[in-house]
Amino acid sequence: MERWKIAQRAERKYWQIYDIDEYQSGDLHGQSHKYAVQLMAGAHGYSEDDVILDVGCGCGDMLNLIDRGLKVGLDPNLRFIKRGCARRNFEPIVAVSENLPFNPSVFTKIFCHNVIDHVADPEQTLAQIRKVMKDGGFLLVNVDAHSSTLKLRRTVSEILGRFVPAMLDLAHPYSFTTRDILKKLVKSNFQIVHMQTLFAYKKRKSPFEIMRFVDGFLTQIYYTRFVSILARK
Ligand SMILES: C[S@@+](CC[C@H](N)C(=O)[O-])C[C@H]1O[C@@H](n2cnc3c(N)ncnc32)[C@H](O)[C@@H]1O
Repeated sequence: MERWKIAQRAERKYWQIYDIDEYQSGDLHGQSHKYAVQLMAGAHGYSEDDVILDVGCGCGDMLNLIDRGLKVGLDPNLRFIKRGCARRNFEPIVAVSENLPFNPSVFTKIFCHNVIDHVADPEQTLAQIRKVMKDGGFLLVNVDAHSSTLKLRRTVSEILGRFVPAMLDLAHPYSFTTRDILKKLVKSNFQIVHMQTLFAYKKRKSPFEIMRFVDGFLTQIYYTRFVSILARK
């Protein structure tokens, strides 16, 4: 929980300076919002009967791309997102994913885009998502998936970061491999329908010479990909 609070401070700073007018629909995340909306549409299209939830919606860039159904965006930081909120066309809910304030079996489609490694409790989040989802509903998880060597390096940075905060990747309390995410989804009783890598990230530079040396040395086995996983209840 302490670590999540540190992440939240970083997220709030980010959203306070975020300017929706600078949002580039052509940049990598803009493209992945579009792709997520399309991938979910491929499952069954969108209809006016859809009840759609975006968990950790941020400023709602993705929900704004959907023009049918009842749309709900949930994020603990909605009140800090000044510029993005002006144009939203969804129902905003300030809450956390570990305690979703909805009745069971309500949503037909749920997005969790770039969020599951930002929350306090990923397992509890998936359990809550499953609970509020209708039988046969679809969940789309998009997440940074690290190679296992990079995950190990990030885990070491997390431990050292307790003493040297500059080593933390502040907004990410968790680091997952693709396998970690798939296992969590299966353990939470979701069926995996489709998985795809959307793009590979350019390498982040460590602030420390020694870590830059290690990163450079192991560059071939250090990588992060942004993956998209469609699952069904
Ligand atoms: C990287 S942003 C992604 C925002 C949005 N989904 C997007 O793709 O543009 C991560 C978001 O997760 C939200 N978040 C962090 N912890 C959360 C929690 N426990 N429950 C719900 N959302 C959370 C943050 O407030 C932040 O807006």
